[in-house]
Amino acid sequence: SAIPYDLVGAIEALKKELNAVVLAHYYQDSEIQDVADYIGDSLELSRRAASTNADVIVFAGVHFMAETAKILNPDKLVLLPDVNAGCSLADSCPPDRFAAFKAAHPEHLVISYINCSAEIKAMSDIICTSSNAVKIVNQIAADQPIIFGPDRNLGRYVMQQTGREMLLWQGACIVHENFSEKKIIELKIAHPHAEVLAHPECEPPVLRHADFIGSTSALLKYSHENPGQEFIVATEPGIIHQMQKQEPEKHFIPAPPINNCACNECPFMRLNTLEKLYLAMKNRTPELTLPEHLRIAALRPMQRMLEMS
Ligand code: 13P
Ligand code: SF4
Repeated sequence: SAIPYDLVGAIEALKKELNAVVLAHYYQDSEIQDVADYIGDSLELSRRAASTNADVIVFAGVHFMAETAKILNPDKLVLLPDVNAGCSLADSCPPDRFAAFKAAHPEHLVISYINCSAEIKAMSDIICTSSNAVKIVNQIAADQPIIFGPDRNLGRYVMQQTGREMLLWQGACIVHENFSEKKIIELKIAHPHAEVLAHPECEPPVLRHADFIGSTSALLKYSHENPGQEFIVATEPGIIHQMQKQEPEKHFIPAPPINNCACNECPFMRLNTLEKLYLAMKNRTPELTLPEHLRIAALRPMQRMLEMS
């Protein structure tokens, strides 16, 4: 069917017609962020999904995020603009291998980063995001051994912040492992007053140079409230759209990737376009569905997260 010229107007009309809410992650294209009802980090978007009165949730993010919205809202229609928007981190933790890992350590409590499939959530005791991981681990009894997955970088960061040993699943995000320490050092020399903001999914050599480490929302808040005028941003550059909106006079420099031909945009997040968002709403497909037994099993650790954060 024809794509209307005024896509934003057409999406606004469909929101009313469907009683839909559009949730977007900060790593989405600027034009998707601008049409969204709520933009947020993973925790904020989960909270929005848990509390919405809308009949339809359109999730402009990646598959595990839409899946999380469905886990929390079995009776709502959950649409995603592109079913192929996966996540390298979620994919780095196949359920059969994780089940064997867990079985080999039966005494361990399993804490999983929300960037994982519903199958992994169903095998977990508690879910966390980058904004509540430290807080959640700090609430676990000191003598309780912990498995943390799937992101080894966030896991290492949480170990450092809490002083706790954890058994780490060796997964990672291709976007956050692609920043160049060397180029960050060169940027710091060229911009001696710039502060480095980094997401905890980055590797230790990058985190070592960070003045502030946090979730996307925490980085945004810091760039807004901190008097600094210049920031080197080591996370997916989609967040810079909101940083620049809140602080038009400040200077935000995306941290460069290792490879000169690449950029640090998430190839999965960026599969979504305004056109696909419009078509998903117009055709009410692709829809995210989940077997009920899996949804119920994955809901329990999600609820524990929401209670503990
Ligand atoms: P947060 O927005 O929760 O920091 O998550 C970052 C991320 O990598 C999402 O895919
Ligand atoms: Fe997954 Fe990394 Fe993309 Fe986030 S940025 S969706 S963790 S691949």
